[in-house]
Amino acid sequence: MFIIIQGCDASVLLNTTNSKNSDTEREGPPNKNSLRGFEVIYEAKTAIEAACKNTVSCADIVAFAARDASYFLSDGSINIPMPGGRYDGRESFASETDQLPGPFSNVPQLQASFAAKGLNPVEMVTLSGAHTIGRARCMFFSSRFSEMNQTYAASLMAECGDNGNTNVNQDYVTSNVLDKQYYQNVIDNKVLFTSDAVLNSTEETRTEVMQNANTAGAWERKFEKAMEKMGKIKSDQQSVEIRKVCWKVNNNYK
Ligand code: HEM
Repeated sequence: MFIIIQGCDASVLLNTTNSKNSDTEREGPPNKNSLRGFEVIYEAKTAIEAACKNTVSCADIVAFAARDASYFLSDGSINIPMPGGRYDGRESFASETDQLPGPFSNVPQLQASFAAKGLNPVEMVTLSGAHTIGRARCMFFSSRFSEMNQTYAASLMAECGDNGNTNVNQDYVTSNVLDKQYYQNVIDNKVLFTSDAVLNSTEETRTEVMQNANTAGAWERKFEKAMEKMGKIKSDQQSVEIRKVCWKVNNNYK
């Protein structure tokens, strides 16, 4: 099966393309006011261009940044064999962010959006474990305080106040460590989104959650493989160049 998507091609870094009338992916509703850290990628690109011109794509830099962040945040226990050789795309459309799964999704919806990119139900549960790091805005979970563990909900309510833009840690136990704690949080009903909590609600997903929570090293190995697979999702024919700078396409493309 050939999957036509614009992903793994650094389309999310562009703030302008030749289709000038259209907003780029980073302006799409799930990304706007959410994605950050672009300057880290831009700095890496500047350093790499200085050392080795026109050789490393922005798409590879993003993938290698994910690999390296995973290694450092797991204290060396997650080592993703991330392949290189991607090319950068020349298009990016805000409207295409509607392909991303949303935080209010149920299990069939999550499975469908992962399947659309060639990722299976086990990989869906495995990759959700990335919510063991990072932050999330209150607007995505304040409607479900009553469904959470009530002690946890009370502390989130205090943090959020009435500002939906406040952000909180996704993993309240080990917020900056890439570890399997997320799965214990799912079991304890101490996770933020519907899309996290529902993993405890079907037999298929709960089996994975329990295994990941209770078996040392199991999730880490599955996460390495699933990240490698996600990193190999093909972009379409538009991924054709190595950008000179990551926020715009090259001018001299023919
Ligand atoms: C299962 C479907 C998923 C849904 C519905 C989802 C949804 C979300 C949402 C709503 C946020 C908070 C954004 C904000 O407040 O601005 C978030 C944050 C995050 N997600 Fe996911 N996500 C999913 C899968 C993934 C996957 C597969 C990964 C990586 C492998 C991932 C990694 C992260 C990280 C690291 C953050 C924190 C970002 C930060 O600190 O800024 N998520 N996710």
